[in-house]
Amino acid sequence: MKPELADILNQPLAVGNASIAKRLVMAPMAFLGNIAFRELVQQFGGYGLLFTEMCSAKRIPQENRYRSTYFRWRDAELSQLVCQILGADPLTMALAARRIEAEQFFGVDINFGCSKVSICRQNCGAAILNTPDLAAKIVSEVRKAISIPLFVKYRIGWQDDPRTAVDMARRFEDAGADALTFHPRVAPDRRSRPAKWEYIGKVKQAVAIPVFGNGDVFDQADCLKMLMTTGCDGVAIGRMAIARPWLFAEWTEGYRCGSEIYLDSALRLAGLLEAHFEAPRALRRFKKFGFYFSASFKFGHTLCSAIQKAETMTEAKEFLHQFFERPLETVSRPNLNFFS
Ligand SMILES: Cc1cc2nc3c(=O)[nH]c(=O)nc-3n(C[C@H](O)[C@H](O)[C@H](O)COP(=O)(O)O)c2cc1C
Repeated sequence: MKPELADILNQPLAVGNASIAKRLVMAPMAFLGNIAFRELVQQFGGYGLLFTEMCSAKRIPQENRYRSTYFRWRDAELSQLVCQILGADPLTMALAARRIEAEQFFGVDINFGCSKVSICRQNCGAAILNTPDLAAKIVSEVRKAISIPLFVKYRIGWQDDPRTAVDMARRFEDAGADALTFHPRVAPDRRSRPAKWEYIGKVKQAVAIPVFGNGDVFDQADCLKMLMTTGCDGVAIGRMAIARPWLFAEWTEGYRCGSEIYLDSALRLAGLLEAHFEAPRALRRFKKFGFYFSASFKFGHTLCSAIQKAETMTEAKEFLHQFFERPLETVSRPNLNFFS
């Protein structure tokens, strides 16, 4: 008999000295995985963990959580929230991790996956995969600094060779990582080619710590296929979580909703963004959300361009109401043109 996706996702998973109740997590996403969006996802529930946007390790020790744009959270989300840090200096990363532990986050995640030019130029994110000794040193220094779960998120590397990814996985495990999130793309590939899921299986076989597979999971069938074909312990969802914030509740708890959920959740997010950020920041974040959200509709480009043109949140909400007055035509898989 074919296993049910929810049965697999609802098996608890030990991560370091802690445990998560569900194996489906939201991947870190700069700008998108902000405090307001996470509040929306928490209203639906159904996830094992949420990851923050990447936060600069340099700034974390001095950051004021109530004024910071990125390093901010609600106490109600902390027990399932992992803070992702970005940096190139092992001691700076360790200091940041220590503050994150003191603030009582569930865990710390090290970003070795971001391949944006501006980030790699500072030798951060995926650039560090070019210097495996430094990458391992960062993990071991952070390990020494904290006892909460330590995650590492990374890509294949700069050459398309699964042996590099496997070698790095072993080094991260030896350096004290408690879990890996592996996004099987080479660093220069900004999601233009399909993720190489077969590499996830190789990484999983190489280490004893849990491995979360990540990349191109668009529906429940994809999720089940990734789990079954790679043997990974859990799945991290990025863009689809933005398009459908109720996805975790749907896949793990059988949450059912009608098509009114789209307008309802977009309006709820607009309200939450307005509550957490001043108007220009809230609108910029809503516009970014608009790309991913629009990918679910047959005439999503109309909605998307209207949201992008909005000068105020009120205008954006008016466009939303207008768009949803018409009969809704959704697509089962997202239009990837919006997802780049
Ligand atoms: C807009 C955007 C921002 C992202 N920001 C981060 C980030 O801050 N840290 C990180 O490790 N990965 C980041 N990612 C990568 C995602 O975590 C994930 O690896 C990628 O989107 C593939 O997963 P998916 O196919 O489920 O979207 C980002 C992706 C997107 C689309």
